[in-house]
Amino acid sequence: MSTVKLTVNGKAVAVDVEDRTLLVQLLRDHLNLTGTHVGCDTSQCGACVVHMDGRAVKSCTMLAGQADGANVTTIEGIAKGEELHPMQAAFRDNHGLQCGYCTPGMIMSAIDIVQRHGGQLDEATVRHELEGNICRCTGYHNIVKAVLDAAGRMKVAQAAE
Ligand code: FES
Repeated sequence: MSTVKLTVNGKAVAVDVEDRTLLVQLLRDHLNLTGTHVGCDTSQCGACVVHMDGRAVKSCTMLAGQADGANVTTIEGIAKGEELHPMQAAFRDNHGLQCGYCTPGMIMSAIDIVQRHGGQLDEATVRHELEGNICRCTGYHNIVKAVLDAAGRMKVAQAAE
């Protein structure tokens, strides 16, 4: 057993875990943050994507211990109270979710994509960048539309801050 100390959604936590515990297990099983999903457990589907120190990571592919000292954000941590994150709002408005299983990972990856590409984002880039996230409903068209829409909304939101 080891104690992993990290910040999750702005809150400092210390969790005793077995050394083999994955980051996704720490989040879901120890902190009850079940918005982060497990689709494959083998780094293929992207349902488990969270942000670690501001970048998207597949939490099924990391040991909890590798997140020691890190700042982790999950899907539960991106809205401001009742106000959705611009990416969540864009997914809602563009019908970018179907069964919803891939949505948390898609949104966390998409925020990272927009933050890295800023205003330079086009459809081909979004499709390429989202290759690590699989939608089992295969509804990619509206997801891509949502990400492009959110890129504009995030710019507006940033300018207003
Ligand atoms: Fe992590 Fe599929 S559960 S990539």
